[in-house]
Amino acid sequence: IKAMGMKLRYFSHSSFLITLDNGIRLLIDPFLDGNPTSPVSAAEVEADYILITHGHGDHLGNCVSIAKRCDALCICENELATYLASKGVNAHNMHIGGAYSFDFGKIKLVQALHSSVTPDKECVGSATGILIFINDKVIYHMGDTGLFMDMKLIGELVPIDYLLVPIGDNFTMGIDDAVKACSFVKPKCAIPIHYNTFDIIRSDPEDFKHKVEEKGINCQILDFGQEINL
Ligand code: NI
Ligand code: MN
Repeated sequence: IKAMGMKLRYFSHSSFLITLDNGIRLLIDPFLDGNPTSPVSAAEVEADYILITHGHGDHLGNCVSIAKRCDALCICENELATYLASKGVNAHNMHIGGAYSFDFGKIKLVQALHSSVTPDKECVGSATGILIFINDKVIYHMGDTGLFMDMKLIGELVPIDYLLVPIGDNFTMGIDDAVKACSFVKPKCAIPIHYNTFDIIRSDPEDFKHKVEEKGINCQILDFGQEINL
């Protein structure tokens, strides 16, 4: 029996859309309007669930408007979920270390070395990474983070298929730290994110790919707008 498949579409920055074969759509960090590299506007995107790594504007993005229009359930860290609920959005509160099963699969939040404040200056708890378990696949979206040793532990607890890893430097890991992160997590495939959206996070994904493949880890660079089958 073939497991249900899914598609992964990269909108640029940290934003993705996962579409399952059964039609369920998971939107991640929907920074679309105001993102100079996004091939789609917020109004063009449909979602059943929205996963948010933290409250910064380049991740929360158009979450509230999309969630309201699509009646989507937002899944994120506790204080951010409470903030979203206060904006009239359906939200599921979680926290770091906890997992919960939904109709599409399981979500577990993990640590990220970063902060979490909304564009309207509400402090909303901790930034997170997100482990997404769908059928036999595990995707680890690292969110915004610096390098930390426990990435090794996360990779030991769960074999990671796809690691979505920030390489843009300045606010997150740059290429060298991102390569080290990959050697800690040991994913089947690394996908670079959070680069070239703005000049301040300019980074060469080909340089990252070269360096991470030297460590024996596959890397796939996704064009902004590209969709792949997982
Ligand atoms: Ni951030
Ligand atoms: Mn960011």
